Amino acid sequence: MRLTNNWIHGDCLKELKKLPDESVDFCMFSPPYHNLRVYSNDPCDLSNCESYEEYYYLLGLIITELKRVVKRNGHVAIQFEDYNYTIGRDGRRGKESLTGNINKLFTDNEFCLWSEIAWEKYSPQRAMISDGSLWYRNLKVRDTIIAANFGYVYVYKNNPSGELETESGSDITLEEWAQWASGVWKIPNSSIGGASHMTPYAYELCRRLIKLYTTPGDTVLDPFAGSGTTNRAAIESGRNAIGIELRKDFYDAAQEIFDKWDNSVFDCDDNKEKMLERFKKQLEIGELNKEAGKRDKEEQKQLRDRKKELRDEIKILEAQLNELGMKKSEIKKLKDEAKEQVFMND
Ligand SMILES: C[S@@+](CC[C@H](N)C(=O)[O-])C[C@H]1O[C@@H](n2cnc3c(N)ncnc32)[C@H](O)[C@@H]1O
Repeated sequence: MRLTNNWIHGDCLKELKKLPDESVDFCMFSPPYHNLRVYSNDPCDLSNCESYEEYYYLLGLIITELKRVVKRNGHVAIQFEDYNYTIGRDGRRGKESLTGNINKLFTDNEFCLWSEIAWEKYSPQRAMISDGSLWYRNLKVRDTIIAANFGYVYVYKNNPSGELETESGSDITLEEWAQWASGVWKIPNSSIGGASHMTPYAYELCRRLIKLYTTPGDTVLDPFAGSGTTNRAAIESGRNAIGIELRKDFYDAAQEIFDKWDNSVFDCDDNKEKMLERFKKQLEIGELNKEAGKRDKEEQKQLRDRKKELRDEIKILEAQLNELGMKKSEIKKLKDEAKEQVFMND
């Protein structure tokens, strides 16, 4: 199979309208915010809205387009933060909560909230540096501000009734599942090599979500693609990618990286059948591990029971020797000699 990396320059609202209905399996993105960083003066730039109302109105229109282009039962993952205002452009203090507004836009568009992940993206110290309010000297009596060092990923399913797929299967290993099943992901927010973007999200975050919510050969979309992290993770995981970015310099910088890709990156011999085969193998490994675990437990139990039997026998023997008039010190000497003997035989 030959993968395609569709890297589009433009306003996502206009560009999404050009995509056919149900042409995308999974969409993931991190949106601009309405009162933080302004990416450009372009009137289409979502970070450049006049008001809170305009921002949520436009974001709602984009989510309505996603409803149309994402397949029924496909998913949309949005990564966002309830950020501290201290770095807001209006200079206010406090916290901005996006959770309720975002959830309403999705549920109004008949998506079902499917999973919620808290992403610990950096240390409180790192948050402290960008935020400037968490220096020890800034601790205020009864009134301090905790580090905003984590964000959320809300995964929505494009089916309001929340039906579950009947088929089991996955593209991840047992070990990965043990880690990824947690609702808290600790992933350092390091950008992809050479990205010239100020707010890229972690490649590993994209890779996990893509592996969890798609199969090889599926199509992944990012309408706010920035430095192209989602496109890169999708192609390198054997999925097709569509990324839309408004700012020309971001678009060009990512294009430059994509141009350097070896052509073989687009050749993918993986497919859903192979994925399911790998899944079955992992299940077998799981069963074998379970059996080995059971055997281990059984052996441990037998060992404990035998020790108890021996201790009881020793107590009986000690009592008998005592009755025959042997002193405690002599019994102890006997025991020490026996121990020594066992030690020598080992
Ligand atoms: C938070 S950043 C995304 C970063 C991206 N996840 C990455 O890893 O590089 C949001 C991006 O949305 C872009 N943007 C803002 N309004 C847009 C619009 N209407 N259409 C497409 N992109 C837009 C901004 O230029 C910015 O690059």
